[in-house]
Amino acid sequence: MAAPLEILTAPLPAETDPGDIDAYLAGGGYGAVRKALKSMSQAELIEEINASGIKGRGGAGFSTGMKWNLCADRFPRYLCANADESEPGSFKDRLLLESKPHQIIEGMIITSYALGINLGYIYIRGEFFQIIDQMEAALADARKHGFLGADILDTGYDLELYVHPGAGAYICGEETGLIESLEGNRPYPRLKPPYFPAAIGLWGQPTIVNNVETMAQITTIVDMGAEAYKAIGSEEDTTGPRLFGLCGHVNKPGIYEYDSEVTLRELIYDAAGGIRDGNRLKGVIPGGISAPILTPEEIDTPMGFGALGKLGSMGGTGGIIVMDETTSMVDALLNASSFAAHESCGQCTPCREGVPWMNDILRRIRNGQGREEDLDLLLDVCKQIHGHTVCVFGQAPGVWPVRTILVKYWPEFRACIERKELVVPPLEESYLRPDQYEHIPPVPGNFRLKTEEADAAG
Ligand SMILES: Cc1cc2nc3c(=O)[nH]c(=O)nc-3n(C[C@H](O)[C@H](O)[C@H](O)COP(=O)(O)O)c2cc1C
Ligand code: SF4
Repeated sequence: MAAPLEILTAPLPAETDPGDIDAYLAGGGYGAVRKALKSMSQAELIEEINASGIKGRGGAGFSTGMKWNLCADRFPRYLCANADESEPGSFKDRLLLESKPHQIIEGMIITSYALGINLGYIYIRGEFFQIIDQMEAALADARKHGFLGADILDTGYDLELYVHPGAGAYICGEETGLIESLEGNRPYPRLKPPYFPAAIGLWGQPTIVNNVETMAQITTIVDMGAEAYKAIGSEEDTTGPRLFGLCGHVNKPGIYEYDSEVTLRELIYDAAGGIRDGNRLKGVIPGGISAPILTPEEIDTPMGFGALGKLGSMGGTGGIIVMDETTSMVDALLNASSFAAHESCGQCTPCREGVPWMNDILRRIRNGQGREEDLDLLLDVCKQIHGHTVCVFGQAPGVWPVRTILVKYWPEFRACIERKELVVPPLEESYLRPDQYEHIPPVPGNFRLKTEEADAAG
């Protein structure tokens, strides 16, 4: 049984206001900034982050050290901490923003110093009204104490950090959409390449976009040292502590901190107290709504990015959505698809037209008006969208949930079409086992049920 951690989630002393800088300082806060700015060179810091093996916590699991190393050799450079957190099922950034604002600010100062950045932004989801005010206050306190502004801690290093509230659009979390929004434009994502932010970002300058949890983890790495950090979790897969947010049909929804070796089963049944009413598990989305669903047979997987990737899913944001046997997978997918249809920014045709089209098809299946050809049509539309869009949105929340929920719960969708009503079949009859279909999602291509004829034909 994996042991819970209390590194990022270490409780504050009773009655402490998380934004109170004096309490934070009394607990050793801003020690990592002092250590970095006073005793480490920029090159040493970058090496420390490389050595820690940290992968970004924004969803893609991209190596933070590698991203920093890709920063083009031009100045000025900018930092954007991504606090747009809008992925359904994800709420770990909100917890950190509420409970550890100074740890995030520390990480931003260290990152900026390491990369020679003098101006940074924290882009916060528009609906987080209270957090926006709290973060403004925390930045003002950090400035008052000499951790921001000119000549920080008498080192000659200058840095300003500002809060930039979003306006509530999911696409502003995509790093180039975020940059467009910061520039005051409509947040249409940019094509990558050439617009990898580390090369051509904010106002055309090299820009590091990192998730806010990644920022908080930078503080942890400098505090504990890269060696100790990478001893947590798996060096081959994902190092450091991870925050997992469990929601849906578990008895104790919430944020749990473990290393990446913890299995989905342990998170659901041990950490989150199992499934409501003693019901059986039907499906679990392991990393925010974009992450391909896993069936009950697939939950003994460790939660590392690589381990989940091998199952055709992904670690994503660590937002885990648990669905029990009473769930209609048709309804669940319609729900996910309605979100995607609403949030498509509309810039490119396959996503703008295809995602709402799939939503229409799913709605008619749910309403008992599904047509014989609808399931193949859905997979065909998935194929037309996948890889044909400006940004990953088209495939991440657009295609992957449709492709994987549809393929794995094929019998349930068929039952709804055949019986012309919403049907929730008994658990055993609702989903396919991995050996019953071809093409592991989310690999593009047509799905085909395995039949004796197909097997005979090779
Ligand atoms: C549609 C879409 C929405 C995204 N939303 C967020 C978000 O809310 N927060 C976030 O940190 N990353 C989000 N990302 C990922 C960012 O583009 C980027 O990879 C991330 O901020 C990098 O941080 P990291 O390297 O620390 O993981 C989103 C990506 C896509 C395609
Ligand atoms: S894929 Fe969708 S969200 Fe991304 S740019 Fe195209 S229309 Fe916008």
